[in-house]
Amino acid sequence: MRDAIATAVVGDDGYGEDPAINELESRFAQLVEKEAAVFVPSGVMANQIALRVLAQPGDLVVAGRSQHVVSFEMGAASRNSAIQFATVDDSRGVLDLADVLEVIDAEGDHQPHVSLVCVENTHMTAGGVPWEVEDLNSLARAVGDRPVYLDGARLFNAVVATGTSAAEYSAPATMVMSCLSKGLCAPVGSLLAGPTTLIERARIERKRFGGAMRQAGFLAAAGLIALDTMVERLKDDHVRARQLADLFAAAFPESNYNTSTCRTNIVAFNHPQARQIVAELAELGVEGGTVAPQRVRFVTHAGIDDDDVDFVAGVLARFTPVAR
Ligand SMILES: Cc1ncc(COP(=O)(O)O)c(C=O)c1O
Repeated sequence: MRDAIATAVVGDDGYGEDPAINELESRFAQLVEKEAAVFVPSGVMANQIALRVLAQPGDLVVAGRSQHVVSFEMGAASRNSAIQFATVDDSRGVLDLADVLEVIDAEGDHQPHVSLVCVENTHMTAGGVPWEVEDLNSLARAVGDRPVYLDGARLFNAVVATGTSAAEYSAPATMVMSCLSKGLCAPVGSLLAGPTTLIERARIERKRFGGAMRQAGFLAAAGLIALDTMVERLKDDHVRARQLADLFAAAFPESNYNTSTCRTNIVAFNHPQARQIVAELAELGVEGGTVAPQRVRFVTHAGIDDDDVDFVAGVLARFTPVAR
């Protein structure tokens, strides 16, 4: 990626003249079988642009309670787009159709218009849980004309875990985004795809957010390598995450961690001493985080190899949290 960045032929993307950006955008649009795509600096910006394009101020947007767009973007949706979320349970990583329909049904009872349904695939806090494509299709059919937006920050993890293609996953969604950073290893960038008319509006919103760049092809050069060479590699992250999940489940039986939920690159389980465990393991060289007060998360990536898994096994074998 560093070599490709150094030798990239670039232009001014503000004028649509950067060949690497143009190639990356059309490559992603092809992969997800949408008419067009736009390159943005981050996944958060892709989500925020999608909300601006797909919802109006005052509208209700249905989403899972702990989805990134709801809980991890510093309230950006209300600050930027003046929308309200109607949140539903997503503890299993997927939305229950009945919950979504209940929110929509309430429109008839003097409640706000529901303009959009957001889903996350894979679902981060649930532990990188991939959707079954049939469930996404049922959801899209059931909500009728209302658009579905797919936050596919880790869409390619879902693709590798299930064998469902990126295009199949994206078909029920009006717009879809995916990150080139994270498991795909690019330093910067996400892509948002959808119908040409919406992507034209997305380009205006990108400008408003300050996300239009100039010689951004230096980033696209890395992004193309991410799409071409890093997707298959994700399966190694998934194998190692499952090994780690089994190790953590054995080390913390009180967490009742169901490791069958670990199908991609995220190990996540509840524990009353989550923050303490994370802090103490970091001291011993095992770095993770918490995504809720009592929810621990560890992530595998290209920087984690089999020796690292063995190292974690060694640390956990002799680990006792201070207040346990
Ligand atoms: C599901 C999901 N969506 C969006 C994002 C935002 O991506 P970024 O950190 O590139 O802004 C993340 C980041 O972790 C994420 O997990």
